[in-house]
Amino acid sequence: MSRTTISDLAAKKKRGEKWAMLTCYEQMTASVFEDAGIPVLLVGDSAGNNFLGEENTIPVTVDELIPLARAVVRGNSTALVVADFPFGSYETSSAQALETGVRFFKEAKVQAVKLEGGKRIVPQIQALIAAGIPVMGHLGLTPQSVHALGGFKVQGRGDDAERIKEDAQALQAAGVFGIVLELVPAELATEIAQELEIPIIGIGAGSGTDAQVLVWTDLMGLTKSAPKFARAYVDLRSAMKSAAQSWQGDVENGTFPGEAETFH
Ligand code: KIV
Repeated sequence: MSRTTISDLAAKKKRGEKWAMLTCYEQMTASVFEDAGIPVLLVGDSAGNNFLGEENTIPVTVDELIPLARAVVRGNSTALVVADFPFGSYETSSAQALETGVRFFKEAKVQAVKLEGGKRIVPQIQALIAAGIPVMGHLGLTPQSVHALGGFKVQGRGDDAERIKEDAQALQAAGVFGIVLELVPAELATEIAQELEIPIIGIGAGSGTDAQVLVWTDLMGLTKSAPKFARAYVDLRSAMKSAAQSWQGDVENGTFPGEAETFH
């Protein structure tokens, strides 16, 4: 099976077919998600707080994300792999954005990139697309701006809805192939998904979007305190803890390694 392309996602929108996207930060999970048939993987800067031990996404750098993205591309041969542009890697100018995009394309071999922001980053988006780098947008709660937004809270309530709708239109006009809408009222997300021709990927945005994205550690029950909009489908945290304790017990009581794990 070949990799999902941005044309496949456009075709899904036309057919009214929903799809799923998961974050991914290394090769093992990338390969599990290939087996599961997940069509799009995001090497999100959420690696900051879900992989690198940071408090949030702000400290994440391009140098940190590139090896993770490269591992995901190597570990999965069927998903479209999208890499997040970390904070500070595209805001200054189109030239800076292009430099970051070229690095992700050449060094990690991802097939698309994602940038947070609306109208203010249209020049950067246009420069990337003109260079042949497909771009996914990200509106609503944009975690890189958490301090400016006053915390992780629902965006687009009341008059603010208009701003998000205008930003979504501006991103579509600039040529993005899809937009992540994070933590906005379901009614607003549904309206934007219905108005726009490109896929809208929701997270904490209700069920009316064309696709859904989740942080993989939230889905698998590994995150200690996952957000309200996430659903854990397995309790991997307990399963891993229990396996580690069982093995430790066997080491301590001398039953590991046994005959099966021993060479003579
Ligand atoms: O970094 C990330 O994981 C994201 C998703 C939450 C959409 O941007």
